[in-house]
Amino acid sequence: MTNAPVLLLGGLGKTGRRIADRLEARGVPFRAASRSTPVRFDWDDESTWDTALAGTGAIYLVPPAEHLDTAAIGPLLARAGARRVVLLSARGADFAGEPVPERVVRERSPEWTILRPSWFAQNFSEGVFAAGIEAGELKLPTRDGRDAFIDAEDIADVAVAALTEDGHAGQAYDLSGPEAISFPDAVARIAEATGRPISFGYRTPAEFAATVPGELGELLGALLDGIAQGNGDYVSDGVRRALGREPRSFGDFVARTFGSQPVQA
Ligand SMILES: NC(=O)c1ccc[n+]([C@@H]2O[C@H](COP(=O)([O-])OP(=O)(O)OC[C@H]3O[C@@H](n4cnc5c(N)ncnc54)[C@H](OP(=O)(O)O)[C@@H]3O)[C@@H](O)[C@H]2O)c1
Repeated sequence: MTNAPVLLLGGLGKTGRRIADRLEARGVPFRAASRSTPVRFDWDDESTWDTALAGTGAIYLVPPAEHLDTAAIGPLLARAGARRVVLLSARGADFAGEPVPERVVRERSPEWTILRPSWFAQNFSEGVFAAGIEAGELKLPTRDGRDAFIDAEDIADVAVAALTEDGHAGQAYDLSGPEAISFPDAVARIAEATGRPISFGYRTPAEFAATVPGELGELLGALLDGIAQGNGDYVSDGVRRALGREPRSFGDFVARTFGSQPVQA
């Protein structure tokens, strides 16, 4: 590794800021860049790219998160010339063939690592399910389908290893937690930890899509409908492969995040 700062795109997001904390603790220089950071980076505004890229080494690449057009990734990487790129993709994103971000990163980066996480546990606390949890009523298309929720802390651990250590180039890691649990069960565990009732119910993919701003709603609605069909009901070994240890459990996330009371794992 060089001493050039790591560029963290999406650097204030659920994974980006956890990676930033870890790099800071290790004394690894980094630059967080998005539309709301002091060094501004906007996928939709090429005039912001050069300042964000200047002098950086490895890149943590979070694709444009609020719209589906990933065409900017190729031109950005062409301009960056980064040797090492760690891409945040998604588990199951290859259901219709190789996703564009994965293909572009493989083609353009001499050293690439692809992270394919399952649904983040942190969606319940700081993401797309958080408002429902807060309101005491979460309605999703998942029915009682299961997912092996991944803790964003584990994604950050894997990303930091891939950004700063050898041995991860050319690897695609499917990342999940240690067990698949149903959405009603996940909500019940959070309710128990918070000590207040939280109901879980059904809404159609279209009804769910209407609650999400931007282009993403329809895709997320379809993915959550896929959970009802069993698409997320399996455990992946990427955390063990990358780090040589087991992933954090959903119970651990709940206790850390919501718990004033002890929670069963
Ligand atoms: N959440 C999940 O369960 C999950 C599961 C699997 C994979 N993923 C993947 O993880 C990625 C991140 O998703 P997330 O929902 O968890 O979001 P997040 O990382 O919490 O936030 C997304 C980040 O992207 C930045 N951003 C958004 N639009 C941008 C733009 N036009 N230009 C520059 N930066 C922009 C935002 O910062 P600013 O607002 O400051 O620009 C924010 O820091 C997505 O690609 C998603 O496919 C998520």
